Amino acid sequence: MIVMSLYRNTVWFLKGLREYTKGGYESAAKYFVTEDLQVDVTGKSYMITGANSGIGKAAALAIAKRGGTVHLVCRNKDRAEEAKKEIITNSGNESVLVHLLDMSNPKEIWEFADKFKTENRLHVLINNAGCMVNKRELTEDGIEKNFATNVLGTYILTRALLPVLENEEGARVVTVSSGGMLVQKLDVSDLQLEKGTFDGTMAYAHNKRQQVILTEQWAKAYPKIHFSVMHPGWADTPAVRLSMPDFYEKMKNRLRTEEQGADTVVWLAISAAAIKHPSGLFFQDRKPVSSHLPLASTHSSTDDEQKFLQILQDMALKFAPSSKL
Ligand SMILES: NC(=O)c1ccc[n+]([C@@H]2O[C@H](COP(=O)([O-])OP(=O)(O)OC[C@H]3O[C@@H](n4cnc5c(N)ncnc54)[C@H](OP(=O)(O)O)[C@@H]3O)[C@@H](O)[C@H]2O)c1
Repeated sequence: MIVMSLYRNTVWFLKGLREYTKGGYESAAKYFVTEDLQVDVTGKSYMITGANSGIGKAAALAIAKRGGTVHLVCRNKDRAEEAKKEIITNSGNESVLVHLLDMSNPKEIWEFADKFKTENRLHVLINNAGCMVNKRELTEDGIEKNFATNVLGTYILTRALLPVLENEEGARVVTVSSGGMLVQKLDVSDLQLEKGTFDGTMAYAHNKRQQVILTEQWAKAYPKIHFSVMHPGWADTPAVRLSMPDFYEKMKNRLRTEEQGADTVVWLAISAAAIKHPSGLFFQDRKPVSSHLPLASTHSSTDDEQKFLQILQDMALKFAPSSKL
C-alpha cells in the first residue's frame, strides 16, 4: 500500500513537472488550433461556478469576450460583484449576471437550480468551484467540507440543471477536476474520510477522482448532453497559494497563468472540435488523456461505481425540496 502510494505520487509529480507547468502548457500549445476558439457564442448561456477568481474568472472573461451570456455562481457578494465589473469592463459584454450560492450547501443548490430553471436557458454548465480544506471540517449539514463542495455540490447542481440543459441542442457540462486525482482510486467505504488521519490534499484528490467517475457515468446516462472533465495544469491562483503554500513556494516560477489554466475549460465549453470527441472523457491541454497512471491500480469496479452513485443520490435526495431524481 505504502509502496504503491509512493509509486503513484512519484510518477505523478514527474509527469506534472513535464506537463502541468507553464513549460508543459507552452509545449502543448504549439499544437493548438487557433481557430478552435475563434467562435461567436452570442445568444448562448453559460453558468460557471466559482467564477469570481482564478480559472473560473478567466474562463468567464474568455466566454464573455466571445459574446456569451455568463452566469457567475459565487458564494461571496462583494467578490462576485467585483468580478462581474471586471469581466464587463474587459469584455465590453453586459450580459454578465451574478448568482449567490454556497456550493457546500445542498439545500441551497436545489433551491437555486429550481429558480434558475424557471427564468433562464442554459447551454453550458462549467463546474469549476472547488476547495482544499486541510483540516477535517463539517458543514452545517454535517458533511465533510471538501466532499460537500467538490462532489455533492457538483452532483446536485448538475442533476438539478439537466432538464434545462436537455432543452438545448448541443448542451455541454464541463467539470474542472485535477490531475491530482491520478493518485487515488475510488473508495466507496470512506467517501468523507472518517477513517485514519485526515489529509486535505488526499481528500481533494479523492474528490477529483470522484468527479471523473461522475462524468463517465453521466455521459452514459444522458446522451443528449456532452460531458467532459479536465485538468487545468498547475496554475497560479488563490487556491494554490492559500491551500498549498509549500507547493506554491517551490513551484511559483513554473506555474501557469490563470488564462492558461482556463484554456481547456474554454475550449471544451465553446469549440466545435471538443464535441467531436465522445462524451465522458478526461482532458488535458485540449486532448483526451488517460484518467489512470500506468500500473497504478486506480481502476474501480462497476459495482463500486454504482454504489458511489447510489450514495450520492441518497444524500442528494435528503436535501431535495421534493422527489427530484
Ligand atoms: N490552480 C490549479 O493549479 C488547479 C489545479 C487543478 C485543479 N484546479 C481546480 O480548478 C478549479 C478552480 O480553482 P482555482 O485554482 O482557479 O482557485 P480559486 O481562484 O481559489 O477559485 C476557486 C473558486 O471556487 C470558489 N468556491 C470554493 N468553495 C466554494 C463554495 N463552497 N461555494 C461557492 N464557490 C466556492 C471560490 O470562491 P471564493 O473566492 O469565495 O473562495 C473561487 O471562486 C477548482 O475546482 C480547483 O480544484 C486548480
